[in-house]
Amino acid sequence: MKLNKRDTIFVLIVAAVIIFLTVGAKERTTKSVPDNDMHKNVTSRVQCMACHGVDGVKPQPLGHPKANQCFQCHTQPEHWVGGKK
Ligand code: HEC
Ligand code: HEC
Repeated sequence: MKLNKRDTIFVLIVAAVIIFLTVGAKERTTKSVPDNDMHKNVTSRVQCMACHGVDGVKPQPLGHPKANQCFQCHTQPEHWVGGKK
């Protein structure tokens, strides 16, 4: 395959986008759920929010996503008693 100038520019843009996304994704890694007694036995969002709701001991930061699936972003502690991920 022979690349002309336009093809080359296209390839460079695609490469730049891929690099941008992979680097960006790495920076976005979210903190995991602490592996302590407090967190090991929690299995429902209601329990999480008792401590991480606005009136809890450690509220979620301002602008935190409203999503409910905590473990989609915060990985579960290793010795978690709940179901598999
Ligand atoms: C009994 C209260 C309580 C419950 C229930 C609880 N947490 Fe926590 N959580 C805390 C406290 C207190 C901290 C801060 C601990 C620390 O800084 O070591 C914390 C810290 C965190 C952190 C931040 C870790 C870090 O590195 O700063 C995440 C993420 C988290 N909890 C997620 C969850 C999720 C998800 C659930 C539900 C499965 C949950 N927590 C249930 C009290 C609780
Ligand atoms: C869409 C992804 C996503 C979901 C779902 C999610 N979070 Fe978070 N959470 C984040 C991000 C991003 C941060 C910013 C700080 C970080 O890097 O952990 C954060 C921060 C936190 C913190 C503060 C950590 C600290 O060190 O101050 C707590 C506590 C927390 N989340 C609890 C929860 C709980 C409880 C749930 C489920 C109801 C939940 N999160 C669901 C993305 C998410």
